[in-house]
Amino acid sequence: MEVPKIFMYIGLATSVLILTRLVKTVYIYIRPSSLSRYCKDGDEPWAFVTGASDGIGLGFAQELCARGFNVFLHGRNLEKLRRIQETLRQEYPTRQTRTIVYDASQISASIDDIASQIGETTRLTVLINNVGGMGMMMPCPYINLQDFTFEDMQSVLNVNATFSAHITRVLLPLLLKNQPGLIINISSTTKFGMPWLTPYVATKAFAIGFSDALSAEMRADKHDVEVLGVIVGSVQSASNPATTSFFTPSSRAMASAVLDRVGCGELSVWGHWAHRLQGIALDVLSQKMFQSIATTQLRRLRLEILDQEEKKSK
Ligand SMILES: NC(=O)c1ccc[n+]([C@@H]2O[C@H](COP(=O)([O-])OP(=O)(O)OC[C@H]3O[C@@H](n4cnc5c(N)ncnc54)[C@H](OP(=O)(O)O)[C@@H]3O)[C@@H](O)[C@H]2O)c1
Repeated sequence: MEVPKIFMYIGLATSVLILTRLVKTVYIYIRPSSLSRYCKDGDEPWAFVTGASDGIGLGFAQELCARGFNVFLHGRNLEKLRRIQETLRQEYPTRQTRTIVYDASQISASIDDIASQIGETTRLTVLINNVGGMGMMMPCPYINLQDFTFEDMQSVLNVNATFSAHITRVLLPLLLKNQPGLIINISSTTKFGMPWLTPYVATKAFAIGFSDALSAEMRADKHDVEVLGVIVGSVQSASNPATTSFFTPSSRAMASAVLDRVGCGELSVWGHWAHRLQGIALDVLSQKMFQSIATTQLRRLRLEILDQEEKKSK
């Protein structure tokens, strides 16, 4: 074969591969959601949202009510949960909500009791593992690993990983009984490795690994339970009070985007298309370069917060 022809075929094959990938990616963001599979008419389906009293979790509670689900609102502050419950009742009078109070940072074997709070007859079909963040480390969540106390690091690991793993174990029998079922695990762009957030970053990689393995287990055992890991970029929320922008959606918009990804067929997905655009950097750059761009931004953010704190303390 002539040498120029070889290059032509390589070019053609590469173009087809890139085009296929592009079409597949665009399709993920324009296809209709399959969420209605888990919400059949007349079935009174329930969803369980962890960390539902604020931020993206509250967005999930609102969106799920709007899309026909009754919702278990999990949080640690009963008064705050009751206020949310009242607002949801006014906004969606035909939906029911129930509160589940459990401090995820203090997890123990008592988490097993949550199954009995759901009740055998309640048709739970959706679990959203959303609780998390570095809210417990405010005002500055950017900390060198060696500067964490035992308690603070345990709290980060419990809220962001241990609680989600255990609540899934506890609620899985109900989801299996009420198949088809859906489990969504919220991860973060930080999972690609950002400095000064090491324990948090590790839990966000855990969320994806946990999701991938459980998805494989459901398929291996022929259970109709979809397990989807979701990568989330910057979102305006209680712990991230940034203004909304092109790359920073509101919590409600983020939750809506995640629910729109249900049934996309991937093990894990960027929930919001704007965050997927940012993720292109990972497709074309090395992970190390992606990390160094993020490091520049985080260094600036960290210095700003530390400066503000120093000024306050004077
Ligand atoms: N916002 C972002 O930019 C962003 C980016 C990437 C990933 N994420 C991920 O998205 C998820 C939600 O984040 P968010 O920004 O919406 O957080 P948020 O606004 O801080 O809300 C967190 C929710 O979790 C609850 N919570 C916190 N600690 C708890 C504990 N110990 N026990 C029980 N409930 C607890 C909070 O309850 P209270 O109302 O009592 O505080 C609140 O309902 C997290 O998994 C986070 O890692 C967020």
